[in-house]
Amino acid sequence: MSGFPGVMGTGMARILGIESSCDETAAAVVVDGCEVLSNIVASQVDIHHKYGGVVPELASREHLRQIVPVVREALEQAGLKLADLDAVAVTRGPGLIGSLLVGLTYGKVLAMALGKPLVPVNHLEGHVYAVLLEAHAAGRAAKMPAVCLVVSGGHTVLYFAEAQRVNGDAHALHLTYRRLGQTRDDAAGEAYDKVAKLLALGYPGGPVIDPLAAHGDPDGVRFGPARMKGNALDFSFSGIKTAVLYYLRAHPELQPEVETRQAALTRGERKAEQLRPLCSKTTLDLLASFQKTVVGELVGRTFAAAEGTGARTVLVSGGVAANRQLRQTFEEEARHLGIEVFFPSRQLSTDNAAMIAAAAYPKLLAGERADIQLNAEANLPLA
Ligand code: KG4
Ligand code: ZN
Repeated sequence: MSGFPGVMGTGMARILGIESSCDETAAAVVVDGCEVLSNIVASQVDIHHKYGGVVPELASREHLRQIVPVVREALEQAGLKLADLDAVAVTRGPGLIGSLLVGLTYGKVLAMALGKPLVPVNHLEGHVYAVLLEAHAAGRAAKMPAVCLVVSGGHTVLYFAEAQRVNGDAHALHLTYRRLGQTRDDAAGEAYDKVAKLLALGYPGGPVIDPLAAHGDPDGVRFGPARMKGNALDFSFSGIKTAVLYYLRAHPELQPEVETRQAALTRGERKAEQLRPLCSKTTLDLLASFQKTVVGELVGRTFAAAEGTGARTVLVSGGVAANRQLRQTFEEEARHLGIEVFFPSRQLSTDNAAMIAAAAYPKLLAGERADIQLNAEANLPLA
């Protein structure tokens, strides 16, 4: 591995991260993979909300509108000029191809024009580094190897990750991954989003179902566990979404409140506290039971993976890692098992560019570079 003289000389690497894989246009400046100088996220939720999911064409068009002001704001907030940057990091994939291309092309041209290194990052690896970034910043180093659960709207996957220091720098961990399991159908976040659509709770579903579920009885509705043939560490979430659909069909008395909520959403009333008075006890119980089942699957398989690999550390990241019940359940069970579990803050759980800049730091030190040929990859694998 070769060093990066500019960086090693000053002892400082100011990396601009750019992320545009789905429906968030994001830019951030992070120093040495652990100090966040700025972290700007322009969400497109208002645009996709009325469709109940991300519309790829609209997403790329909005990235095009946002990318320049978002990068400018990230630099301004960091108090830096373009010339002060040491490298540009971009998300290469996985994600929506049209969305990825906007951030990747912009980052590529910026790096070439500035004559600075261009570092490509896998979006899933970015989510893992969101955890490491904040653990370092808090002075709480995660002992490796670790089991990593990346759980978002597009992915639900378990990795076994081993770390190697780059140039002896404790903040520059180069990770290698082995995939242990993944969803065979929907991602967990996707299940939240689809259930929210069925029940007229808006998009994205997770941030609304999370607080509403706290008001229901988690044993109110019985959902069977997903039975997996083959790899016991794989997940499946399409069954529970279908079970919610069948439950609604079997309970036509819930239809009027679904229509009332739909009308509220159309008026722009999308907050959990606005929707809660429009939810019957049956609906709150349904949500609590759905969430208990999803959380149980995620936590159960993650700890089974830790047991199987002997890892004593678990890193949980991705949009669904913002879920309160998921965090609480992980923490309680980890305490029993003597395992350490790490989450990003809720802000860094969902898509952002600080995680992309943080993941790029060890790569930059190790001399990993891309050139003008770099292309986006919608299905870029991590392991
Ligand atoms: O990581 P992310 O921002 O984008 C992807 O890479 O997919 O994750 C977005 C997903 C959405 O499906 C959203 O419903 C879910 O994360 N989510 C949550 C919560 N906050 C966001 N799911 C459950 N509970 C939450 N609090
Ligand atoms: Zn993501």
